[in-house]
Amino acid sequence: MRLGESPTPEILDPIERVSRDELAAVQLERLQWTLDHAYRNVPFYRARFDEHGVHPRDCKEPADLAKFPFTTKQDLRDNYPFGMFAVPREEVSRVHASSGTTGKPTVVGYTSRDIEIWSDVMARSIRAAGGRRGDIVHVAYGYGLFTGGLGAHYGAERLGCTVVPVSGGMTPRQVQLITDFRPSVIMVTPSYMLALADEFEAQGIDARASSLKVGIFGAEPWTEEMRKEIEERFDLHAVDIYGLSEVMGPGIAQECVETKDGLHIWEDHFLPETVDPFTGEVADEGELVFTSLTKEALPIIRYRTRDLTKLLPGTARPAFRRMEKVTGRTDDMIILRGVNVFPTQIEEIVLRTPGLSPHFQVHLTRPGRLDVMTVKVESRPGFTGHDEAAAALSRAVKDTVGVSVEVEIVAPETLERSVGKLKRVLDKRDN
Ligand code: DLL
Repeated sequence: MRLGESPTPEILDPIERVSRDELAAVQLERLQWTLDHAYRNVPFYRARFDEHGVHPRDCKEPADLAKFPFTTKQDLRDNYPFGMFAVPREEVSRVHASSGTTGKPTVVGYTSRDIEIWSDVMARSIRAAGGRRGDIVHVAYGYGLFTGGLGAHYGAERLGCTVVPVSGGMTPRQVQLITDFRPSVIMVTPSYMLALADEFEAQGIDARASSLKVGIFGAEPWTEEMRKEIEERFDLHAVDIYGLSEVMGPGIAQECVETKDGLHIWEDHFLPETVDPFTGEVADEGELVFTSLTKEALPIIRYRTRDLTKLLPGTARPAFRRMEKVTGRTDDMIILRGVNVFPTQIEEIVLRTPGLSPHFQVHLTRPGRLDVMTVKVESRPGFTGHDEAAAALSRAVKDTVGVSVEVEIVAPETLERSVGKLKRVLDKRDN
């Protein structure tokens, strides 16, 4: 197959070829199993369901799920470390944890069957991205408690690829390994991919001439403008992968390379809903909520992801619904003088402004009574029209987002680079 063409049906998993109705039947059966499994084996769920006056047998059709209570990150924290597990600890073959900026991490667990399924959906994701058996896959997501590295690793092995488990960091060596091993697929956060692009340049190597054909980018929000930037600099196909540890890890949803039109959610294992983030009512778009359908160690019921998106019908995999690229997290939304601002909106505008690089930070301060947002952005190497670029950026933000921001243009290579997930917003307000 040439990239950009649909894969032939024979190489798809049989489930990828079913009709929507067939998929819905599988989902309902698995949903009923999951509710029952959680109720029987996790005291937290039993108490929560009882409090809400619902029982697993009340779920007779998919819409009944809305009667069940949500689960939040706080619930996982309250049951730290292993209280949410639905199997004896001896049957848990691996744990991961998400760092959490404050307090205790959130711990998640997997039985060996959970790991098998995770590997399958990751293999499916890499294939949807354009990867094939026999490809060399460079994994620069962090290995360790973070799910990115090991999740990608097991999926690439399952697909029959040769995996290079580099993890994040040591950027010059990453470039050397890409040049010497000639991988066709790279899996890494989009922000770290930019750091790699800069490193290619610094070493005087043409990134467009590298062996990379596909980049599978996720773990943080990124925009269409960023896709263009990365595709242009590396001459590859940049596709989006989504996931979160509480629901599994990477590989919950994947963009297909032939359409690049949002991410197909692997609904045979993860049931999505979107709800109004304030009222919790089911809505066409809003906060993404997931219920696992096959997980043994950590069944998760109506988990509030805090990620904002919209559900759409399937295209390249017609039975599976898509989610739009994530706009941001409810907790990343900046409310500036009454206007909602997402860092992704700023990213789009920065990348459209001539002379500005994609490396930027948003600083929030409160010098007097009002909040001030300053966009600190690096110019592209050799660019000198700083004043015009600053004026153009602040005008564009005012016109499209509706807020006034300060802009500070700084020299290339002065803002801190991230090796894994990027921290875009630095909140220096006192409270
Ligand atoms: O970031 C899993 C992952 C690893 C996904 C590698 C993709 C690639 P957590 O550390 O639990 O898990 O963080 C999950 O990251 O709720 C989103 O806010 C954000 N996120 C993940 N993928 C995307 C994406 C991994 N494609 C949190 N676009 C999620 C936007 C994403 N945000």
